[in-house]
Amino acid sequence: MTALLLDNIGSLVTNDPGLGKGQLGLVPDAAVIFEGGVVAWAGPRSQLPGGGTDTRVDAEGRAVIPGFVDSHSHLVFAGDRTAEFAARMSGQKYSAGGIRTTVNATRAASPDVLRSNTGRLVAEALRSGTTTIECKSGYGLTVDDEVRCLEVAGEFTEEVTFLGAHVVPPEYASRPDDYVELVRTAMLDACAPRAKWVDVFCERGAFDGDQARAILAAGIERGLQPRIHANQLGPGPGVQIAVEVGAASADHATHLDDADVDALAASSTVATLLPAAEFSTRAAYPDARRLLDAGVTVALAADCNPGSSFTSSIPFCIAIAVRDMHMTPDEAVWAATMGGARALRRTDVGHLAIGARADAVLLDAPSHIHLSYRPGVQLVADVWQAGRLAPIRTAHQAQQP
Ligand code: NIG
Ligand code: FE
Repeated sequence: MTALLLDNIGSLVTNDPGLGKGQLGLVPDAAVIFEGGVVAWAGPRSQLPGGGTDTRVDAEGRAVIPGFVDSHSHLVFAGDRTAEFAARMSGQKYSAGGIRTTVNATRAASPDVLRSNTGRLVAEALRSGTTTIECKSGYGLTVDDEVRCLEVAGEFTEEVTFLGAHVVPPEYASRPDDYVELVRTAMLDACAPRAKWVDVFCERGAFDGDQARAILAAGIERGLQPRIHANQLGPGPGVQIAVEVGAASADHATHLDDADVDALAASSTVATLLPAAEFSTRAAYPDARRLLDAGVTVALAADCNPGSSFTSSIPFCIAIAVRDMHMTPDEAVWAATMGGARALRRTDVGHLAIGARADAVLLDAPSHIHLSYRPGVQLVADVWQAGRLAPIRTAHQAQQP
């Protein structure tokens, strides 16, 4: 197996406090060796082990960080919601109902279109440094369409989430309980073998607390692990349910009372904040500072979807989190790497400790702080996935209807 030496790194984020300074395990004047798809060595250049490697890459004093772990995305869909976005920017409010527009387009699309749209977004995310991405279904909402969407998601990631309970589809509008029953039974029977996670949009206009509990329980019975869209548009029971069922993550977590924050702090459930959704729906950001100060584990994710957040850029989310949510640059980078890994219960990604998967990003910048200091600038120079240089410079295809 060939080894690669990434040398002359001005500042290396390892996320291993045993390897370097602070929460980020920061090592100045560093080097890393990748071998067999994992990190074989990381540390100060002065301690670089002898023996040589097959390939040497000179980072020329630039920063290297772990690849981003985006723990929340909805990439399998067709169509877009440009008109809805424009209307919102002219004063209209975001509501869960817009999801149905995408459901219609997704049901009408061929598997090839869904595959190429999803692949394009995964490639786009990779170009901004995302090396692990979770992907949900939720725009099919029939047994067959949900299966189709999960199969497409599974072609791109192992972090596949069943979100049949995204919204009640139009054909069930007058009998939502029948839809919940379908999700709990036939839909989950067909979908559970194709997913790792079960998610519910627990929100006014989507599913209430009892419905969410029933669907999550049915998913857990079939071997799926729970995560929840919770407290996005208003207060509600989502966060408490997340903690109650031992969910890996409560996502959005925007409208919280003290009991919600206390419950998260006393649990292993991560609060996954999705600031690009508040940005694109012109809503108030979640209070990251309050969560961090209470001791809650916070992740940052992009929530890439055609309705509330049509971006795949984690650097964009980091910039918002620092500027407007009062996270420090270190906290934001940790949340987008190690935080995302915790939200997916992964120990092999999100850090560059010895033995971790060799997922790393070379920045065109001297430190990770530039991700928030230089918002909107493409700072990702190169990306390695499992030790291989990723093809981030290839041309991309256009979104298909
Ligand atoms: O996470 N909140 C629910 N799901 C997505 C939005 C989906 C849509 O509007 O199409 C979200 O924001
Ligand atoms: Fe979402």
